[in-house]
Amino acid sequence: MKERIEALLAEVENLKLRTAQEIEDARVRLLGKKGEITALFDEFRNVDKDRKREFGQQLNRLKTLAAAKIEELKSAAEAAGQSSAPSEDLSAPGDSYPLGSRHPVSICREEIVRIFRKFGYDVAEGPEVEDDWHVFEALNFPPEHPAREMQDTFFVTDNSQKNPVLLRTHTSCVQVRCMETMKLPIRVVCPGRVFRNEAISARAHCIFHQVEGLYIDENVTFADMKQAILLFAREMFGPETQIRMRPSYFPFTEPSAEVDVSCNICKGKGCNVCKGTGWLEILGCGMVDPNVLEASGIDSRKYSGFAFGMGVERIAMLKWQVKDLRNYFENDLRFLKEFESNI
Ligand code: PHE
Repeated sequence: MKERIEALLAEVENLKLRTAQEIEDARVRLLGKKGEITALFDEFRNVDKDRKREFGQQLNRLKTLAAAKIEELKSAAEAAGQSSAPSEDLSAPGDSYPLGSRHPVSICREEIVRIFRKFGYDVAEGPEVEDDWHVFEALNFPPEHPAREMQDTFFVTDNSQKNPVLLRTHTSCVQVRCMETMKLPIRVVCPGRVFRNEAISARAHCIFHQVEGLYIDENVTFADMKQAILLFAREMFGPETQIRMRPSYFPFTEPSAEVDVSCNICKGKGCNVCKGTGWLEILGCGMVDPNVLEASGIDSRKYSGFAFGMGVERIAMLKWQVKDLRNYFENDLRFLKEFESNI
């Protein structure tokens, strides 16, 4: 026993280990449950009584020394940057972060704006919280006019006072601001968010997006409007697309029309998207009413113009066959990811 204690003492003194793993292995080999020093303690029980004292002291010394040595090596290794935790592989590739995709409403709005920019239109934006003048009055909606009920308005201030503040119900108010401030001729599109007090359903929402357009110059005619809308429809829905116009009414345009495009799913034959008619409604338009030009200080005898307005969600629904408008607002990643390829 004496020799084994001495051999182990010498071994412990000369231990030269560097990595955390090597040190841990040595600790288990010497001091672990089945370690060599632990085994000596078991044997010590059978040592003759008269030698117990001598061996006992030697064994305790060996155990203390081994433990101290292991601790010393451990701190040296840690100081040298070798922690006892598993080491990092610095050459491993980093964690990947999933890329987001653009929202379908943004993709569609930018596509509409891109097409009109190509036709030479500028882009104008305005405030979402507007006054009655810009949303209604200047657009030929006199007070108490029943046409105001076409658009259920959210009022910010009391609507019985003069020129109340409200959330815009269409972006035509931006066109009024353009007519008030820009030099003629004017050619603008106005993209933006609008608000209407409507019950939320698959086909209606209280918040949605529009792109409206305005063109004012000398001698602008209905034929110019028809051509601009036809070219837009063909860029948006494909070169074969046909349009048709139906008479309609808006207080700010005269004459007014609603525009349908031939159904791009069934090519006009009739399917469940176009409800068998072969046509899909995409926008409202008309020749700017002379009253509207005059309200913004434009001489209606010299100038004429056309305006049009469309709902971005509606165009996106037709383009990608989204059946329920609420999908656009719920931010369900499974829905949003379907548009990744359109980025
Ligand atoms: N402002 C109308 C709406 O929100 C759309 C429109 C714009 C119609 C311009 C005609 C001309 O419904």
